[in-house]
Amino acid sequence: MNIFYLTLFPEMYEGILSSSILKRANDKGIVSYKTINFRDYANNKHNQVDDYPYGGGAGMVLKPEPVYEAFESLHLENARVLLMCPSGRPFDQQFAEELSTEENIVFINGHYEGYDERIRNLATDEVSIGDYVLTGGEIASMAMTDAIVRLIPGVIQQESYENDSFSTGMLEHPHYTRPREYRGMKVPDVLLSGDHKKIEEWREEESLKRTKERRPDLIKNKK
Ligand code: ADE
Repeated sequence: MNIFYLTLFPEMYEGILSSSILKRANDKGIVSYKTINFRDYANNKHNQVDDYPYGGGAGMVLKPEPVYEAFESLHLENARVLLMCPSGRPFDQQFAEELSTEENIVFINGHYEGYDERIRNLATDEVSIGDYVLTGGEIASMAMTDAIVRLIPGVIQQESYENDSFSTGMLEHPHYTRPREYRGMKVPDVLLSGDHKKIEEWREEESLKRTKERRPDLIKNKK
C-alpha cells in the first residue's frame, strides 16, 4: 500500500511514521509513506495557499489550485482520496478494514477555517475521526494510518486483531498476566483452570458485559 499525505506540516508525521509498527511495516516493504507539502504548488509570489472567503466572514479558506496540483503530481490512476474534515463520514473499525485493502490512499489535510468547496471534488470520501474539531487533518490522518496499517496482512499477527474491540462488534474481554495476585487484586480462577471451553465462555460473557455497560449502542446496532 502507498500512503500519501498532502499537508502544510510534513514534519508532524516524522515521529509517528518512523516509530513502532508503522515503521516496521515500512521496513518490511508492506507500506510506503510520502508527505507532499502543497505549499510547493502555490504558484504565486508569496506561496500563499489560503485566501479570504468570497462573501466575507471570519477566517481563511484553503485555495483549490495548490491542492489540485499537488494531487496531480502523484500521477495516480486509482486511489482512495480522503478529505479530512469534521463533517465527514465517521471513521470506525469497519471503515479501517475496508481501507486496509486499498493500493493507494491519499489524505488531504486542511487547516484554517475550511476548504474551498471545489477541493471536495477531488475526494472519494470525506472522513471525520470524531465529533470534535482539530486544528487540522494531520493528527486525524495519522490515527487513521495506524488503524489501517495494522490490519494489512503481515504487519502484525492476525490473532492480534481478530478479537479486537469493534471488529467483533463488541468490546474486548479483560486480560491478565503474571503475577497471580497484585495488591490484593486477583486473576480470576477460570483463567488459571486450563479449561479452554470455560475460558472462552467467560471471555464472551465479560465481553458482552463490558459492551452493555460501556457501549450499549454497539449492541443495539448489531441487532
Ligand atoms: N479536521 C478537523 N477536525 C477533524 C476531525 N474531527 N476529523 C477529521 N479531520 C478533522
